[in-house]
Amino acid sequence: MTRECNLAGGINLGQGICDLPTPPEVLDEASKAVLADKSVYSKYEGIDELREALADKLHTHNKLDVDPDSDIVVTVGSTGAFASTIQGLFNPGDELMVFEPYYGYHLNTMRVGGVKPNFVTLEPPNWEFSAEKLEAALTPKTRGIVVNTPTNPSGKVFTREEMNTIAWFCQKHDLIAITDEIYEYILYDGREHISLASLPGMYERTVTISGFSKTFSITGWRIGYAVAPPELSEAIGLVNDLFYVCAATPLQHGVARGMARLDPSYYAEMAADYEKKRDMFCAALTEAGLTPYVPAGAYYVLADISPLGCDTAREGAMKILEEAGVASVPGSAFYQSEAGESLTRFCYAKDWDTLEAAAERLSRLGG
Ligand SMILES: Cc1ncc(COP(=O)(O)O)c(C=O)c1O
Repeated sequence: MTRECNLAGGINLGQGICDLPTPPEVLDEASKAVLADKSVYSKYEGIDELREALADKLHTHNKLDVDPDSDIVVTVGSTGAFASTIQGLFNPGDELMVFEPYYGYHLNTMRVGGVKPNFVTLEPPNWEFSAEKLEAALTPKTRGIVVNTPTNPSGKVFTREEMNTIAWFCQKHDLIAITDEIYEYILYDGREHISLASLPGMYERTVTISGFSKTFSITGWRIGYAVAPPELSEAIGLVNDLFYVCAATPLQHGVARGMARLDPSYYAEMAADYEKKRDMFCAALTEAGLTPYVPAGAYYVLADISPLGCDTAREGAMKILEEAGVASVPGSAFYQSEAGESLTRFCYAKDWDTLEAAAERLSRLGG
């Protein structure tokens, strides 16, 4: 869609690229680290300062008490953490449960590792599932479950009750949970972020993955991390070393020191800003006749495009691009079933001018 968007001179709300400004404190500390020539490889598990800062943050924000020396691996983005987890902990032929709509990288990384997905479909409008659905998707080869909260693309935030169900299910069937929490600071309407690993009996069987791409708008820096007990984190660290050696050393310093300097209000203000953007953009979608499934977190919205009368999601997304000049990602990218064919996903992590221009253009749909 990006190529088609460029050709059509459209506004690209397709890719999940967040082009908002990085906090100056983080930029300043990274620049200082580059100029101070922090240029050599770090330990494969990351610099001590960052792992210590992460342990503090995990204590206060995620309600996890972890040993920064043995339980944290700093990775090349959360994508690197997920890839290292799949390669380090699973074998070809293993199966992992995945909720759909899913994040494509999860699926493709599993495929590269020969790990088969067992899909559990979340039902709109609230993207719900039941314990029965989990049981129905389980096979004798299932070894774990992938949970992404807040979720790309649906914006779902798993409730405590749902997390309890997943925790119960994992313990009942001796499964490993992999949680992708990259949008952990972007929640709306007073919702709380719950880390699955913080529930009773879950730390020992959970790999908690997150990173700074979204929180600090530094998608190109590639700083993420995996948190798990030593029995799991050791294998993750070994793969991280083999694949990547380490995350960029000066940028690790930038993030660690930037975290220390940032005012704690930064995180809530960022979420509040996204919430205003969500409200404005969802109102524009409704106005344009494309019913949004209003997200509870993250910065994407799935919209129902059936009123456009197209046969496929791709056709629908192309129609929106041609008539309104706004690019989105066809819902089929997030589903193995037909369910995605009536959906398209917009990303609203854009500056206000761009988003307002996109909203104005959407009003031309069908005109
Ligand atoms: C669910 C999810 N996980 C991970 C990522 C990528 O994160 P990172 O830049 O830390 O690799 C994205 C980016 O779109 C995402 O949506």
